[in-house]
Amino acid sequence: MWAFLGVLLLFLHEGFAQRHDADLYSFVTLPEVRALKFDITHVDRARQLPGYWFVAPYGQIDPENPTQKYEQYQIGPYIYDNDGMLIWAGSPATENRNAFDFKANWNMDGEPHLSFILQHEFDDSDRGSGVIMNNNYEYEYHVGVTNDLSAFNMHEFNILDGGKTALACTYRSQVVSLDDFDRPDEESWVITGGFVELDVETADVLFEWNSRDQIPITESVKFHPWDNPQGEPGWDYVHINAVDKNADGDYIISMRFTNTIYMISGQDGHIMWRLGGTDSSTTDFDQDFTFSKQHDVKFVESNSTHHLISFINNASDESENDEDLSSALFVEVDVSTEPMTARVIKRLERPDKGLSRLRGNVQPLPNGNTFVGWSQWGYHAEYDPDGEVLMYAQFASERFSSYRSYKFDWVGRPTAPPDMVTFVYGANDLDMMTIVHISWNGATDVAGYNFYARAYDRGEDIFIGYINKTSFETMFIGDGYMDWISAEAVDINGIVMGTTPVQRTEVPANWKAVGFTGSSSGPIPDDPAIIMTSKDGDDDYDGAFTTDDRKAIIYSQTKEVAAAVYKAYGVIQVMGGIVILLLTLCCIFGVVVGVRCFLRRRKMRSYQHIPSEEGQPVEEIQLRSNVDD
Ligand SMILES: *[C@@H]1O[C@H](CO)[C@@H](O)[C@H](O)[C@H]1NC(C)=O
Ligand SMILES: *[C@@H]1O[C@H](CO)[C@@H](O)[C@H](O)[C@H]1NC(C)=O
Repeated sequence: MWAFLGVLLLFLHEGFAQRHDADLYSFVTLPEVRALKFDITHVDRARQLPGYWFVAPYGQIDPENPTQKYEQYQIGPYIYDNDGMLIWAGSPATENRNAFDFKANWNMDGEPHLSFILQHEFDDSDRGSGVIMNNNYEYEYHVGVTNDLSAFNMHEFNILDGGKTALACTYRSQVVSLDDFDRPDEESWVITGGFVELDVETADVLFEWNSRDQIPITESVKFHPWDNPQGEPGWDYVHINAVDKNADGDYIISMRFTNTIYMISGQDGHIMWRLGGTDSSTTDFDQDFTFSKQHDVKFVESNSTHHLISFINNASDESENDEDLSSALFVEVDVSTEPMTARVIKRLERPDKGLSRLRGNVQPLPNGNTFVGWSQWGYHAEYDPDGEVLMYAQFASERFSSYRSYKFDWVGRPTAPPDMVTFVYGANDLDMMTIVHISWNGATDVAGYNFYARAYDRGEDIFIGYINKTSFETMFIGDGYMDWISAEAVDINGIVMGTTPVQRTEVPANWKAVGFTGSSSGPIPDDPAIIMTSKDGDDDYDGAFTTDDRKAIIYSQTKEVAAAVYKAYGVIQVMGGIVILLLTLCCIFGVVVGVRCFLRRRKMRSYQHIPSEEGQPVEEIQLRSNVDD
């Protein structure tokens, strides 16, 4: 019979594999969420910094139009652990809208926070915002757009130390003269690039800078002297994609369409220097390297004479490659010498030696390692201080990318309780089992769960078992029909971190239909106190249940069923969906019940000589050999 079940499961598994969603997790407790899986290679696990990954998968970069079809939650902010185990699915909170620059912030008030850009709505009914959450996953701030801009730009939401202000990029359509192209009589719309420093509480603009009067159109590699003037929105001539601020109050920005990094005075907004990537006439530096199509420029260290900066040298875009592979660069800039110098002090190459055609970011880690997001398909890697690759990973799915990927320490303490779903199965009153699925979206440091059941609504909570947390979602199998169940999430020291409400166990709509042989109204919930007592004294039944060896047989079969269900559950995870779970369980229990009937008949026959009314010889033989073992 179990061989048959195996075949059944194999068949189901084959069927599921063809559904092409093996790249997504599914959970009984959060059926509306389909989180992405990762493929991970740990080259040297011991030297990786402990921490969590912060990614924000998106399918397409622009907001998607709503559809009539039911959609599960997939895109948005997500936290994973260092083994790709899901910690937090933020997609329900953001309602499947694109999120960018998702990260943990420990620099606000000593408490851990999350921040991300929530992209504007498809119809611009909402212009988007920089979002800040506390570590209870409660919204603290929506730093919206308070000026004339049409949207919160997707590139940067950089919360500065102290958490009072944040930086964001700006794109604005403006008219410029083509004088610089020696076409003084002509004008064109262009998209100018700039940035704002925003008050986190009020979203007021405290400082604004714009390229229009400071970066001539001749610096652009995307707007040429022979190009026609354009109407609105105009030529995207600089394409700002990053901004940071140092302790002196000056800003550094990256313009992808000029291949240049600019230092901007926080005093008066003038360009203090240009670090040019490809054109020696643009750069103010004696430099020993080139770069292009760069991303995510950030200060690592900065004082009045020296700046250590990091950025992604994309070196590639849709139309051309300037170098053979993308890299993360750490560059030391010395502005005290004449000429000023810029030197590469570290170059980290993509582990696969490829080109990042889409975005990316670089993050120095506190232990000297570096985390680099190569963006497409969520490809990211961790490097040791010498540039050796310690780990690389990417989404199992090629349908999604993450603009940036970060690694941070994190402490997640959701206010919502753990999610729990409980089912009961069994063939007769003596032979029931209760299956509990539990997860706690966003909680870190959960070591396991304690489970409790009550005999009735206001009964006493009886401890029915503990199980270690095994993954985002963990399954527990309890003996008997337990109703009125609750669970505690506990940390490594057994300290209770969170408690579910007391929940009723879900029962089949039709007990007969799932093979229950007792009364048509179904079984009556067990008293957990009695079940637990009988479990304690396994060899010493008090007679409340049975003195027959049938009890032992049934008990062992219960365990086999549990094992089969557990296997089925693995398949379910691939497949997703409680409906299928129930269907599968019906199959299993249909068979189990069939077997049980024969078991009972055989036994009854031997005692009472009642002839069988129906026959399934093969199963009967198999069963008999089982029983006789
Ligand atoms: C600035 O940083 C450089 C490099 O770390 C260091 O050598 C120099 O002494 C620093 N200057 C000041 C004024 O702190
Ligand atoms: C839970 O995990 C701990 C540590 O790995 C282990 O010692 C313990 O036996 C496990 N407990 C159960 C009930 O599996």
